[in-house]
Amino acid sequence: MSRQGSGNSRQALGEVETALSVDDVAREAALIAARGPKREELKTLAGGAPRLSIESLTAGYGRMEILHQIDLYVGPGQSLCLIGPNGAGKSTVLHSIYGFTNIRGGCICMGDTEITHLSPKDKLRHARIAYILQDNSVFPDMTVEENLNMGGYLLNDRQAVREATERVLDKYPRLAERRQQRAGVLSGGERRLLEISRALIMQPEALLVDEPSIGLEPRYIDMVFGILDDLQHQDGKTIILVEQNATKGLEFADIGYVLVSGQVALAGRGDELLKNPEVERLFLGG
Ligand SMILES: Nc1ncnc2c1ncn2[C@@H]1O[C@H](COP(=O)(O)OP(=O)(O)O)[C@@H](O)[C@H]1O
Ligand SMILES: [Mg+2]
Repeated sequence: MSRQGSGNSRQALGEVETALSVDDVAREAALIAARGPKREELKTLAGGAPRLSIESLTAGYGRMEILHQIDLYVGPGQSLCLIGPNGAGKSTVLHSIYGFTNIRGGCICMGDTEITHLSPKDKLRHARIAYILQDNSVFPDMTVEENLNMGGYLLNDRQAVREATERVLDKYPRLAERRQQRAGVLSGGERRLLEISRALIMQPEALLVDEPSIGLEPRYIDMVFGILDDLQHQDGKTIILVEQNATKGLEFADIGYVLVSGQVALAGRGDELLKNPEVERLFLGG
């Protein structure tokens, strides 16, 4: 598409590809939010009885309210990706599920069990939800094996932890080959694999994954999504992820939610959102 002369009329502005300013995105996003999806549509996307559900969640940090009346539903063995501008509250949704925020209203359930106010430890221990940190969180001076054992720190039974570590090492030969090496010498992709597999020690049913592709070379990004795909489709894990690489995230996930200013602005099947012109223009770098 060719850019027209700057002296041209207003009409031309609608036709040419103009770079969107942050304000433009915020304004347009607010419009989208005003006609956000209905709860019934979100439930339909999750199909049948949801594994994890959030209703009317209002939450934030201290006195600051970041999420406003969020609904979210994801089925057993399904994946859901949150996309949206920086600061929209995507990570805050994961933090709220895991128990790191101040929840002012609404509820979070695993199946039929309400877990809104469980501590993070109990989320992991009893609700079978694991949170995979956005930051690089391996212990570089510990071996791969020791890092995995750390994933079982809530278990009193050391033998059970060792068995869980062996199970994970059996699953991932890439890690097994390096079990006695310092985690600090792993490649970026292997470190991410270690972070994910450490979360598996507690045999979670739901995985919360914040920006799995961040900071990784492209070949490792595909590897990480391959690992998540296997956990979802072979092991039946429910996955909620946040991904700044919206294209990758929506290609991966069954369901996509666009979060804007702490509200769900749009939701659909991942492949549908990928084709949605509004999503493309605002979030897919179009
Ligand atoms: N620990 C925190 N304490 C206070 N404010 C926070 C904290 N973490 C995030 N925020 C604020 O919450 C808002 C949403 O942030 P976040 O959920 O990280 O957005 P996203 O993941 O969509 O980029 C931002 O305004 C951010 O500054
Ligand atoms: Mg974030």
